[in-house]
Amino acid sequence: MTSPSANITSVLKETRSFPPSAEFVANAHISGMEAYRELWQRSKDDPTGFWAEQAETLTWFEKWHTVLEWNEPHAKWFVGGKLNACYNCVDRHVLAGRGNQAALLFEGEPGDTRVLTYNDLLREVSQFANVLKNQGIQAGDVVTIYMPMIPEAVVAMLACARIGAMHSVVFGGFSAEAVADRNNDAKSKLIITADGGWRRGKVIPLKQNVDLALSKSPTVQTCIVYNRCNTSVEMVAGRDFWWHELAAAASTDCPAEPFDSEHPLFVLYTSGSTGKPKGILHTTAGYLLGASRTHHWVFDLKPTDTYWCTADIGWITGHSYVVYGPLANGATQVIYEGAPNQPREDRFWEIIAKYRVSIFYTAPTAIRAFIKWGDQWPKAHDLSSLRVLGTVGEPINPEAWIWYHTLIGGGRCPIVDTWWQTETGAIMIAPTPGAIATKPGSATMPVPGIHAEIVDRQGNPVGANEGGLLVIKHPWPSMLRTIFGDDARYREQYWSQIPGAYFTADGARRDDDGYIWIMGRVDDVLNVSGHRLSTMEVESALVQHPKVAEAAVVGRPDDLKGEAIACFVTLVSGEQPTEELKKELREHVVKEIGALARPDDIRFAELLPKTRSGKIMRRLLRDIAAGRESKGDTTTLEDFSVMAKLRESDE
Ligand code: WTA
Repeated sequence: MTSPSANITSVLKETRSFPPSAEFVANAHISGMEAYRELWQRSKDDPTGFWAEQAETLTWFEKWHTVLEWNEPHAKWFVGGKLNACYNCVDRHVLAGRGNQAALLFEGEPGDTRVLTYNDLLREVSQFANVLKNQGIQAGDVVTIYMPMIPEAVVAMLACARIGAMHSVVFGGFSAEAVADRNNDAKSKLIITADGGWRRGKVIPLKQNVDLALSKSPTVQTCIVYNRCNTSVEMVAGRDFWWHELAAAASTDCPAEPFDSEHPLFVLYTSGSTGKPKGILHTTAGYLLGASRTHHWVFDLKPTDTYWCTADIGWITGHSYVVYGPLANGATQVIYEGAPNQPREDRFWEIIAKYRVSIFYTAPTAIRAFIKWGDQWPKAHDLSSLRVLGTVGEPINPEAWIWYHTLIGGGRCPIVDTWWQTETGAIMIAPTPGAIATKPGSATMPVPGIHAEIVDRQGNPVGANEGGLLVIKHPWPSMLRTIFGDDARYREQYWSQIPGAYFTADGARRDDDGYIWIMGRVDDVLNVSGHRLSTMEVESALVQHPKVAEAAVVGRPDDLKGEAIACFVTLVSGEQPTEELKKELREHVVKEIGALARPDDIRFAELLPKTRSGKIMRRLLRDIAAGRESKGDTTTLEDFSVMAKLRESDE
């Protein structure tokens, strides 16, 4: 398999192009290149007129009077409008006579299944919204959700939206420490969890983690526990309540209240370039519009489709393309609780065949694992129901793309490589599959309404095939509104780096045909198995260990994960570098952040290479971690011998 560094070279040489079939084009929502160009041009020439037209696809309690108020860097979209996100995702489908249609086809890891129709969803969500109200939750309050991928996770999010409470979903793989940090930053009042969730045949002890987190989360008064795994958990009287007991006592009637377009919908924490994750704030109307329109355009969703996005609701992909986008569009979708290789390496293909999934959206890291597991697994299943395939989260190497196209898509399914971010709320660059011929490794072109440019540090557009920084030129409805509790950081990070544009922190190039190729982050954010992680976050976890004096963390190319986590550690005097200690430090990082941050390599060093002004020379460390010879200039190194010593300390 090619490594991601080899990938950059192979991407530069990639010239293959895959146009959609005539039949696909004929039936697509955006049919043909001309239709795409026209729609995109219209959105560029008259952004507010364009978005106002699109906004008619939502159901409003009161219409807006102003499409956009823009005081850079603060946007207000659809000012004066009132709506309810949950109503748009549930009630309106029931009122349109589609109540008996399946909304969620749930498959638990142990093999248990449930179907929730839109009628079911309305009843469950209304009832749980009343549960939250009965616990004193009001519009504007923050509710933490730390749950496995089960229907109740979706119900909990929608119940918050129904009553105007902001949800803050924390991925179930994060540790108790990480849950507590997020609770405290958001001043969460209530947490919803489960006793546990199934992962590779084992129960992840979510409630146990919550107990630890709550000892450090003074703002959280209440904990609601869904019984998923029938494991015994500790229930603190007066603080902890069973979901099923509270629900049984709550009415199923809870009319959706109208909220302002700019009413906060949720906060979702993501890694930036500092040690502290930032709470990305999204608001109601613009976010819902971005998620639902992109879902419609990019996945070409039709009423006959069965859609499956494998993302966990703990990530933005789960928010936009499991919950808000597909449900606002009235989709029928699969949700699966567990691992792709449980009980065997064909679980995903078995699910696709069983539910006749037609649109499948996953991550390159998963595809690389499937390749490693072998072709026999997908080949054993009937995947003929598939018609669109998607990827997200990291660049996809052409080899993985071709495998996905051939083995999974049978050569007939367009692959939508979707570039976007927690901050953008919705897909920004991706092929509209009935219009744009795809090229392996390219996210192709911006979706309608999005004005992407590639510029130099001063903000000047660069030429074809010249690499530069990816920026977005005009505000768009689903953009983040701020960083929760830190507007200065919002301004600084996104709107101060490049004049007059939103700075994505990704590098990119545009080829001669106008196709965009994403080159990866230009800041200290790692992409580990499609998950964002800051080097500083891991460093600050490491230095919290009493035996660690200093730590530097860099990414190194990895065939499976995209990037692996390489750590360089100096110890406090008197401590010995041992294999035992490496193990201890790995576990320490897992405890501080979560298993997704487990270091791959730990090297002990006597000193870290620094510039004369004391900055750690990460470029050199990246070369060492990747086993490359350093070509860069090392003359500012404080101590030349440091480099030689580091090389000796091979993992
Ligand atoms: C990277 C995930 C290449 C990128 C939706 C971005 C991608 C970061 C792609 C955001 C893609 C996401 N091709 N790189 N198709 N999609 N990225 O916030 O570096 O978890 O800045 O959002 O992932 O990660 P986030």
